[in-house]
Amino acid sequence: MEMNRRDFLRGTAWMGATAALAGCVSHAAKVVDAGGMTAFRVAPISKVRVGVVGLGMRGPGAVHRLAAIPGVEVAALCDLYPERVAAQQQWLAQNGKPAAREYSGEEGYKAMCESDLDLVYIATPWQLHAKIALYAMEHGKHAAIEVPAAMNLEECWALVETAECTGRHCMQLENCCYGAVEMLTLNLVRQGKLGDIVHGEGAYIHDLRSLNYLDPSRGGYQGYWRLKWNRDHTGNIYPTHGLLPIMQAMNVNRGDRMEYLTCVASKQTGMDAYARNVFGENSWQANLHPRHGDMSTTTIRTVMGRTIMIQHDVTSVRPYSRINLVSGTMGTLCDYPLRIAMANKPGDACHYWFNFTKEEAEQLLGRQLDAYWSMSRLESEKLTETYATRIATEYQHPLWKVAGELAQKMGGHGGMDFLMDLRLCYCLQNGLPLDMDVYDLAASCSLCELCERSAENRGASQDIPDFTRGGWKTAKPLGIESVDLSKLGITIDDVKEDKTQLSV
Ligand SMILES: NC(=O)c1ccc[n+]([C@@H]2O[C@H](COP(=O)([O-])OP(=O)(O)OC[C@H]3O[C@@H](n4cnc5c(N)ncnc54)[C@H](O)[C@@H]3O)[C@@H](O)[C@H]2O)c1
Repeated sequence: MEMNRRDFLRGTAWMGATAALAGCVSHAAKVVDAGGMTAFRVAPISKVRVGVVGLGMRGPGAVHRLAAIPGVEVAALCDLYPERVAAQQQWLAQNGKPAAREYSGEEGYKAMCESDLDLVYIATPWQLHAKIALYAMEHGKHAAIEVPAAMNLEECWALVETAECTGRHCMQLENCCYGAVEMLTLNLVRQGKLGDIVHGEGAYIHDLRSLNYLDPSRGGYQGYWRLKWNRDHTGNIYPTHGLLPIMQAMNVNRGDRMEYLTCVASKQTGMDAYARNVFGENSWQANLHPRHGDMSTTTIRTVMGRTIMIQHDVTSVRPYSRINLVSGTMGTLCDYPLRIAMANKPGDACHYWFNFTKEEAEQLLGRQLDAYWSMSRLESEKLTETYATRIATEYQHPLWKVAGELAQKMGGHGGMDFLMDLRLCYCLQNGLPLDMDVYDLAASCSLCELCERSAENRGASQDIPDFTRGGWKTAKPLGIESVDLSKLGITIDDVKEDKTQLSV
């Protein structure tokens, strides 16, 4: 029964993707050659007209962020439920923004995608991401899709092919690439401070059980879509938050490529325990028995010999973590809490005084030291923390330096959501390539299917497709990118604190 449902779901996704592709191929020659979406740019769009589809927990925050950016108009709103559209229309009116066109119902997005827009911004349940993005590109719109943008390989390939066919941007909205620590890491890597990158670790560790089981009529996920995904799948259903920042640090798809992976998943106990506790032994929730293991661990190897470890755990009693570890021949950064060690030159061994000289260490600790091993654990932690804070200040990413304050004022996961939207719109307005392209989307999202296949087969190795079809060998790495706020015409006073933004 389980297998049939999964097969059916996969079958439908495949049919949708193929139908869209057939249209694309028969109507137009490819606008961009295979592999050509890296550094792809379109003519500057002075006024970016955006249609936002999916106005549940995540979508309204996007409406508010986008509406705050000069030269961006939220021109259309769409949700299954008309009342969610009306609520955002009211917000636009209350905030002095032009009225948006309204769309609702299961297929309201189609009329929206057919209308006069530049960008379709998708924050719906996962099963609709690729379907709506394909429709948007087929109708000439750029697509920006929440994470994970695609849930299986067919969807990944369909998005790649359609972006190339139509010459439209297709970007995954991976906000974690704009986190302060992730961008600090990227800046350190770009400046060569961590040396040649060898290994990375990322994760999505976030106890989501109360949200997964929250009744949709009381603000839970619409139709329990996320709980159902946990019920029907295993492996790693949400791999991109930890993975994409590491892919950027390692130049994956731009000089390196993820070649294969293995995934092992633990048994599932956390969701059942929660459901029994909250709803009782005989409830439907306690008898759902989701398939997704509590903890899944995936190991990836790249063509250039780097390794990446990615974990997923949304069902254990644990503090939130994305791990954020990037390690190279000259240093390592890891997060939760932030710790950094760096060598002065290649080949230097570990620093005995936690990156300080003996004299500096003694001054910071207020006592004389015989040897580094005479420090207590608390003392070594103090030095580690002091050093990390110093480096984080010195090497803060230029985007955070320029726009971090206004992004934090607006809110949205500590500001990273706004920085992501700001960069996206800035690039569109200035005809620049986007920071994340459709190949990054496809490579990171391919884990959804590949991890499941591996976990179901005793961790059997799975090849990761080369979505760039060789383009990774010559593509240039992402630089240290920022925005010119004077070009955007935005100051901190133009941004209002928005309490509706998600914070965790
Ligand atoms: N990047 C992040 O940090 C982050 C955080 C939260 C959620 N998300 C992502 O955002 C997306 C939405 O999550 P959410 O928490 O808002 O879920 P949600 O269930 O609260 O919202 C989904 C919305 O989509 C609407 N919808 C369903 N079918 C539709 C259709 N056919 N046409 C138009 N609208 C439709 C629903 O009515 C609902 O309002 C997911 O992909 C999720 O992974 C990302």
